[in-house]
Amino acid sequence: MSTTNHLSPVWTHLTEMQPVRAERIFLYDADGNQYIDFTSGIGVMNTGHSHPRIVQAIQAQAEQLIFGQMNIVMTPAAIELANALNEVTPPTIDNFFFSNSGAEAVEGAVKLARQTTGRRNIVVFQGSFHGRTAQTMAMTTSKYVYRYNYQPLPGGIVTAPFPYSYYFGWDEEETTEWCLKQLHLLLKSQTAPDETAAIIIEPVLGEGGYVPAPPAFMQELRQLCSQHGILLIVDEVQSGFGRTGKFFGFDHAGIVPDIIVMAKGLGSGMPISAIGASEALMRQWKPGTHGGTYGGGNALALVAAKTTIDVIREEKLVENAAARGQQLIADLRRLQAKHPVIGDVRGLGLMVGVEFTQPNGEPDADRATLVANACKARNLLLLTCGSYGNVIRWIPPLVVTAAEMDTAVHIFTEALEECR
Ligand SMILES: Cc1ncc(COP(=O)(O)O)c(C=O)c1O
Repeated sequence: MSTTNHLSPVWTHLTEMQPVRAERIFLYDADGNQYIDFTSGIGVMNTGHSHPRIVQAIQAQAEQLIFGQMNIVMTPAAIELANALNEVTPPTIDNFFFSNSGAEAVEGAVKLARQTTGRRNIVVFQGSFHGRTAQTMAMTTSKYVYRYNYQPLPGGIVTAPFPYSYYFGWDEEETTEWCLKQLHLLLKSQTAPDETAAIIIEPVLGEGGYVPAPPAFMQELRQLCSQHGILLIVDEVQSGFGRTGKFFGFDHAGIVPDIIVMAKGLGSGMPISAIGASEALMRQWKPGTHGGTYGGGNALALVAAKTTIDVIREEKLVENAAARGQQLIADLRRLQAKHPVIGDVRGLGLMVGVEFTQPNGEPDADRATLVANACKARNLLLLTCGSYGNVIRWIPPLVVTAAEMDTAVHIFTEALEECR
């Protein structure tokens, strides 16, 4: 284990442990200590750490071809990945562009929307997280730390309220109605529909607190976008690839977006992201006006992503996410009944948030941090999220078993008792 390092301190670290090996839901340090990774590396390792099929695919590809730059050649692995994505996305989403990170894909989606509509403005939601580049920072409203002292940021972004019922203290129907009313007001007061290129939404707010958007809200968004020729972009970077108990988060609302943004779970740890849209839309994107050296060229990332899709489908990880998610939510609601510090338990599949609230109704970030730290002391890694930092998020690899979930919930229960 290295004791000195020259890493930039701009990185925050949940732990200082140095993993040397990983398998399924577990990380191991050099002394052989085992940690239960219920962060999945922030939603990346949906197939579990070092899935043997993915390891094997990367190894085999490395011996054949590591890189085929997309402006120079047509890398076969890119064609195969696009075919595989075509099978898991709705029929109208049949063209794919590859890049390296979630932020890069979000930016690409915004470029696609702006160029093809000829419009400038983008609507985002309160609590959104879309990335760390200048464009995506401007679209990120979950916490000021992500944009701290980086102004001025690119313009043309307007923020609408996200239907976060628990925060507003209303039921889902009332919240949905109010948020839609505010969105209509925004289209009257801040951005005319005919200058609005896209509305972008996370179907389950991620960094903003693990809040699923009500299906009625998503359906209304779809309708509103179609009515005004606004493109509906769904950011599935954290909620995609089986995470929510359906292949994509938007599947819960039975809608079809115009553009899907994918990353994280797509590559099982290899840096790859994608934008999916209809061929008709992609054809309007003027050739040469977007690209990048690595996107679609790194064959290791491409085969890792293709194999990830195969593994998710063949090992029925979407179904497991749904079942383990139900198990988890039922357990957490039982705990909520005993521990009034838990104000809300919510989520879809294995994207579950536990919100901590003080007796006066204020967010309780200190308690969330204490509980997460008490879990960490027992080698269970859990992250917090939410604008106030008072939500513990459960985002384990989708390969987690019922018994492993029991173990994690048992540790969480002990941590809760300790932090009473
Ligand atoms: C919903 C969402 N969009 C975009 C991003 C940015 O992805 P990346 O960190 O790969 O740039 C994230 C990262 O957490 C995310 O959760």
